[in-house]
Amino acid sequence: MMNQQLRAVVRGMPKAELHIHIEGSLEPELIFALAERNGVALAYESVEQLRSAYAFTDLQSFLDIYYAGASVLLKEQDFYDMTRAYLARAEADNVLHTEIFFDPQTHTARGVAMADVINGIYRACQDSPVSATLILCFLRHLSEEDAFATLEQALPYRDKFIGIGLDSSEVGNPPEKFSRVFARCRELGLHLVAHAGEEGPPAYIRTALDDLKVERIDHGVRCLEDAELTARLAREQIALTVCPLSNTKLRVFDQMHDHNLAELLAAGLLVTVNSDDPAYFGGYMNDNYDAIFEALPLELDHARQLSRNGFVAAFLPQAQKDALLARVDAYFAPHFPTN
Ligand code: ADE
Ligand code: ZN
Repeated sequence: MMNQQLRAVVRGMPKAELHIHIEGSLEPELIFALAERNGVALAYESVEQLRSAYAFTDLQSFLDIYYAGASVLLKEQDFYDMTRAYLARAEADNVLHTEIFFDPQTHTARGVAMADVINGIYRACQDSPVSATLILCFLRHLSEEDAFATLEQALPYRDKFIGIGLDSSEVGNPPEKFSRVFARCRELGLHLVAHAGEEGPPAYIRTALDDLKVERIDHGVRCLEDAELTARLAREQIALTVCPLSNTKLRVFDQMHDHNLAELLAAGLLVTVNSDDPAYFGGYMNDNYDAIFEALPLELDHARQLSRNGFVAAFLPQAQKDALLARVDAYFAPHFPTN
């Protein structure tokens, strides 16, 4: 299939997004609009100046700017407006289902009420035609005690989120730091995920699985350094939520050409494609797909696989999953006439 045809098929295919930090969808224009609306002072004079600061050298250099950007979010309506804008972008990229991360500690530490964070995001999800659920993330640079307190504050809204994640500065903050709070979340019937093997070593992927008992690994691209771990991830079909543009912007790989996504697929891993922090890394779902299909040896069968994997790995009831997978199969059927 010619490049332009393949590109059009990939852009139009049904997608599930499983790794998107809602605070990372805050575009510079909305940061400035909310700063003005709320009377928050920014360290940048213009949208252009802010955007030009998005030259990251590693994860921490990004997180510093990402947390500063989130400081404009004060009211329930701010969380609503941010989420509504993301969902419109997702819909335009043919995302049928999305599982949205949010970082409550970033907001509650500034005096924002947990109710305003969760209700604002949740209300935008309900108003969107895209199927959307929420995953509350603990910040791993903070203590486990702080995570426990955050969980307590969120429990009155237990029906509004389906899972728990772990994000922020990875190296030096291994998954096992949060073993007890994840055990409690498991008892509460929440789905569990964690960022591991983005900048951190393969050992962090192991302890995320064994100590936290997570069901998916966010990023996980460093697993290929450990053959035994890779074999296990393939055997157990543990999904990896890979974020290609994030990985090149944060220098996990120098260029997209160097990304290991094709090797991960070839190793039989349940790879999914996601945007992570689209406002900071150069784009949403279709921008990520454009970038990998441009730079890597990927063909039509990889596109179908990636589309399917997103729904297979989603935290959805089996009947809803089957219905979405049937839509994927119907979409690709004309392109695989002999199947
Ligand atoms: N928070 C937002 N994006 C993140 C990422 N890629 N890794 C860790 N924490 C994050
Ligand atoms: Zn992430």
